[in-house]
Amino acid sequence: MYGIIGAAIVAIVIPILLSMVLRGKRKLKQRGVPVQVGGEAGYAMRNARSIKLVEVPWEGATTMAALFEQSCKKHSQEKFLGMRKVISKDFVTASDGRKFEKLHLGEYQWETYQQVFDRACNFASGLLKLGHDVDTRAAIFSETRAEWFIAFQGCFRQNITVVTIYASLGEEALIHSLNETQVSTLICDSKQLKKLAALRSSLTTIRHIVYFDDEDSPDGSSVIQENSNWKVSSFAEVEKLGMNNPAPPNLPIKKDIAVIMYTSGSTGLPKGVMMTHGNTVATAAAVMTVIPQIGNKDVYLAYLPLAHVFELAAETVMLTAGVPIGYGSPLTLTDTSNKIKKGTKGDVSVLKPTLMAAVPAILDRVREGVLKKVDEKGGIVKKLFNIAYSRRLAAIEGSWFGAWGLETLLWDNIVFKKIRSVLGGEIRFMLCGGAPLSGDTQRFINICMGAPIGQGYGLTETCAGAAFSEADDTSVGRVGPPLPCCYIKLVSWEEGGYTISDKPMPRGEVVVGGASITAGYFNNDAKTGEVYKVDEKGMRWFYTGDIGRFHPDGCLEIIDRKKDIVKLQHGEYISLGKVEAALMSSNFVENIMVYADPFHNFCVALVVPSRQVLEKWGNESGIKYNDFSELCEKAEAKNEVQQSLIKAAKAAKLDKFETPAKIELLPEPWTPESGLVTAALKLKREQLKAKFKDVLEKLYK
Ligand SMILES: *[C@@H]1O[C@H](CO)[C@@H](O)[C@H](O)[C@H]1NC(C)=O
Ligand SMILES: *[C@@H]1O[C@H](CO)[C@@H](O)[C@H](O)[C@H]1NC(C)=O
Ligand SMILES: *[C@@H]1O[C@H](CO)[C@@H](O)[C@H](O)[C@H]1NC(C)=O
Repeated sequence: MYGIIGAAIVAIVIPILLSMVLRGKRKLKQRGVPVQVGGEAGYAMRNARSIKLVEVPWEGATTMAALFEQSCKKHSQEKFLGMRKVISKDFVTASDGRKFEKLHLGEYQWETYQQVFDRACNFASGLLKLGHDVDTRAAIFSETRAEWFIAFQGCFRQNITVVTIYASLGEEALIHSLNETQVSTLICDSKQLKKLAALRSSLTTIRHIVYFDDEDSPDGSSVIQENSNWKVSSFAEVEKLGMNNPAPPNLPIKKDIAVIMYTSGSTGLPKGVMMTHGNTVATAAAVMTVIPQIGNKDVYLAYLPLAHVFELAAETVMLTAGVPIGYGSPLTLTDTSNKIKKGTKGDVSVLKPTLMAAVPAILDRVREGVLKKVDEKGGIVKKLFNIAYSRRLAAIEGSWFGAWGLETLLWDNIVFKKIRSVLGGEIRFMLCGGAPLSGDTQRFINICMGAPIGQGYGLTETCAGAAFSEADDTSVGRVGPPLPCCYIKLVSWEEGGYTISDKPMPRGEVVVGGASITAGYFNNDAKTGEVYKVDEKGMRWFYTGDIGRFHPDGCLEIIDRKKDIVKLQHGEYISLGKVEAALMSSNFVENIMVYADPFHNFCVALVVPSRQVLEKWGNESGIKYNDFSELCEKAEAKNEVQQSLIKAAKAAKLDKFETPAKIELLPEPWTPESGLVTAALKLKREQLKAKFKDVLEKLYK
């Protein structure tokens, strides 16, 4: 009897004590510490683990070219880049007559570090033999693939600066970027060739085109005939040319420009950010330290656009750590992805990656997909899922009452194992960046995938690296302490109402300084001077325009954006982003832009309603309509959505002036293709404002 009670006491009390100890410890962990820095006064923080700023992953790796060469030597016989061969390609016709391509893809075929190094050297030699003038730039305009990375490294062997252009930027932006940087060699995938041919009268600086070979590549020679001033070669031809005509390397130094990266700014034409070789290796060195035990036992799945600094930095980290990189694409990612032929395998199922990078929009989709499946199954499956989820949630949120130890193992086997197989089943760490991740989704992925998410914060101008949350940090909504390659300083913004003396936490504009701060905007000294400053000790600082606050453990939280704060007629400040985030909680809202005219004392909103939800309401309320756009016009519909916004605003304790006084419903979704949101699905306010100018004016009448 006493034995049983004793055992019960031990069984209950020990975990409580243990979890209290663990919780106590977790709270105490100092991740960032205050530091004295130069430049404008502020509240500065550095990574707690390194007193000196990290600039290189190891001695001697001061440029991308050196890093590549040394890593390839170190790991020469290990797997490096993997690609899937197309086994078959079909077209299926949907009920509306549209045709969809369906692929059957094979196993990954790997090349070793040595092989990749040789290919990059050959490509570099081939470019010279082709007649590329090394004092001019090359551009890469292609979807993510192994050849992208090989061409990129090849250029650095000859100190050629690479211009990268986001594939979803429009034609005008493409012409502008290539013309501004006087690109003479354009490296692209065969899909882009046709598009380029159509623009050739505007692409006057181009001499050479190198296209990546595909089974269905258009015949290069036919393009030559049409474009007498372009010399068109396939990637394989250039490699072969280089193999037969090897040229000695001409390596860059740390301060040389490696990349000019054109990013989709939220206003006007894109700006080219100049990244030095020193910037890229500093970020790689710093991010390495936040992925626990990263090494050649890992496998990384690459599928995000390499023209985006986040993916480029992630792949550089993998190169640094000797991790194999398997290439995939967003449309072939999982077994149920759009382009995957039914019954065949998606990239994750074949590769079984341990590391993956994702943007919040993708994780949101994973979450919706899982929830939908659970809902469809219903019954016992749904019940079990809900119990398992809430038990693990309680544990992660620090309650000793949650599922720990053995119980975790149990739930993993009954419930989560199946879900994890959606991403291949082996994920142990995810990198997330590009936009803020919602706390709900972060928790969901933590629990269902059983993997921590490192949330990164950074911009192209800071060469990705600025802050990164640590694997053992279970809080949500924060982006971690500064990376070891930089300092982060908050600078008071008095008129916006954010100061470093605010309680309980210092707040202000986020300013980043150190080894990862880029050299500025290409050909735009005025703009560079506005947002980059050099302090008396020679350190570069970048003013991000984001508003943040530092938690007591040294972690940064982004709370606002300077540009998105409008001062109303009566002097109140309205933070558009904050209001939008609050109103998104209404079921009716798929997307929303809040707009505030400084000459009035109220705000208005453009709402893209969720078609499913609004139609369901319309049908149930007996509203007569022919199509969705007609439903959006109905006064009853507007009223219903507005009521739900008011409710959401109340729940979030918004002020009256923060609650949209008038709204308009817009039936067409906002997509990156339409140019109304960025690829990371952030609103492009200027474009939205321009497109819906009349609507906004009407709302203020
Ligand atoms: C290209 O740039 C030059 C200046 O360098 C400018 O005069 C020209 O108009 C530009 N062309 C296009 C098509 O943008
Ligand atoms: C690399 O190229 C840039 C631009 O052409 C040049 O200014 C720099 O001196 C070169 N670096 C070396 C080490 O030759
Ligand atoms: C609403 O009714 C229309 C027309 O009857 C139908 O096409 C649509 O699927 C319904 N939508 C919902 C969400 O019930």
